[in-house]
Amino acid sequence: MTSPQKSEKDRVIIFDTTLRDGEQCPGATMTFEEKLHVAEILDGMGVDVIEAGFPIASDGDFEAVSEIARRAKNAVIAGLSRAQPKDIDRCAEAVKHARRGRIHTFIATSPLHMKVKLGMTPEQVIDNSVAVVTRARNHIDDVEWSAEDGTRSELDFLCRIVEAVIKAGATTVNIPDTVGYTTAEEYAHIFRTVRERVPNSDKAVFSVHCHNDLGMAVANSLAGIQGGARQIECTINGIGERAGNAALEEVVMAINVRQDRFPYRTNIDTTMLTHASKVVSAATSFPVQYNKAIVGRNAFAHESGIHQDGMLKNAQTYEIMRPETVGVKQTSLVLGKHSGRHAFVHKLQELGYKLADNQIEDAFVRMKALADRKKDIYDEDIEALVDQEMALQHDRIKLVSLSVVAGTRGPQRATMKLDVDGTMRTEETEGNGPVDAVFNCIKALVPHEARLELYQVHAVTQGTDAQAEVSVRLSQDGRSMTARAADPDTLVASAKAYLGALNKLVMKQRRDIPIAAAQ
Ligand code: KIV
Ligand code: ZN
Repeated sequence: MTSPQKSEKDRVIIFDTTLRDGEQCPGATMTFEEKLHVAEILDGMGVDVIEAGFPIASDGDFEAVSEIARRAKNAVIAGLSRAQPKDIDRCAEAVKHARRGRIHTFIATSPLHMKVKLGMTPEQVIDNSVAVVTRARNHIDDVEWSAEDGTRSELDFLCRIVEAVIKAGATTVNIPDTVGYTTAEEYAHIFRTVRERVPNSDKAVFSVHCHNDLGMAVANSLAGIQGGARQIECTINGIGERAGNAALEEVVMAINVRQDRFPYRTNIDTTMLTHASKVVSAATSFPVQYNKAIVGRNAFAHESGIHQDGMLKNAQTYEIMRPETVGVKQTSLVLGKHSGRHAFVHKLQELGYKLADNQIEDAFVRMKALADRKKDIYDEDIEALVDQEMALQHDRIKLVSLSVVAGTRGPQRATMKLDVDGTMRTEETEGNGPVDAVFNCIKALVPHEARLELYQVHAVTQGTDAQAEVSVRLSQDGRSMTARAADPDTLVASAKAYLGALNKLVMKQRRDIPIAAAQ
């Protein structure tokens, strides 16, 4: 969060690599249009540098980087490039239309990578780096150089090569934890040492780039900042190679919430974090883990009765940041089997219900019973449940029990018990399908002339345990009555909806006229 009294030295540059390191991970490929959309959002939310792709990798990547460069309004647009002249030139070509472009070149510096992967000596790696940085600087003023596998590189060598690339014109020096191996203390130490020992270190911005193989990418990135780095490379939702990169929303909110420990500022409009997360998740088809920090759907949800009670008294009891700060409309007190009466009453008020104490009590008992059968209880479930509760109090015909035999071996059978004006009636009937059997049963128990005009089923909420909502319209003597009912069991909902419509028809009759029974 921006804070006016902080100086430029406390400013942390947010470098987003969702479109490069993020897109590079298996299964996260985005289309050209999706990349443009993601870039537009990143640009709008205050990301300082957008790494838009790897131009030499494919024509598609080249086109995406060029188009993003043309469209970006605020951010620096970077393209990645191996330490090879043709890569540098292609990258320069791709970012040339940006208001501000950057060439980001990298080469491995760890003994293992230099020997096994590159087959180069350390001296060759230094010479190569100097050559490509010089070439990049001939194209553009903003050049980033990265020491791939930096955290497994020898510190003395790292200092030597960093000095050389800065001398050649690198304006940003990135020391990535490519394999997600480092620890916070170690990473901070690397930055402190390199910045102290390299004589021209003040001529470049140092950058962190962490992978999450040990689940420490965010903590390590923040430690790197404490060690003097001032750029964080990260991705939305933490997508990236293997276990992913440091999550942008997490580093930004850690700085925002823990200003006492991280007295820095970023340019990010944090209220856009949730939207950005949803867009990237949809574009990549990578679902966001429910309990993901900041943007997971449970990040601001409370189900336990104790927590809900605390939240209703003071949100700070169980929330360290307000949901609105990250673009979530409000905290959600999810009703479920752990919820208490306090939260239930609060929810009823929120939904606009004014119920008498006994009605609340009945509805609460029914909510708990529903919660035993259904994992999540949504607002629509509560509405269906209370509406039904209120209707029930006036109904002359009430469903007491229903069991249905259905399946491939017909005929389907329904056994039903109804309370009709206080008298119990039971019947068993067959039908052409379970719904037909249920409706036949009602007709047998309460003979009537009403005709079924409409029967519709849909899910009130999502999931296979969703409540089914059934609408039934009955007509008799030129009058039509429609009723709806919801239940996790579609057949029970069907029976209730049918009875609801029948009750409305019957209600038009006088109470002193008995409801006809079967002969
Ligand atoms: O993880 C890494 O080392 C990288 C570099 C290319 C910066 O992604
Ligand atoms: Zn990486």
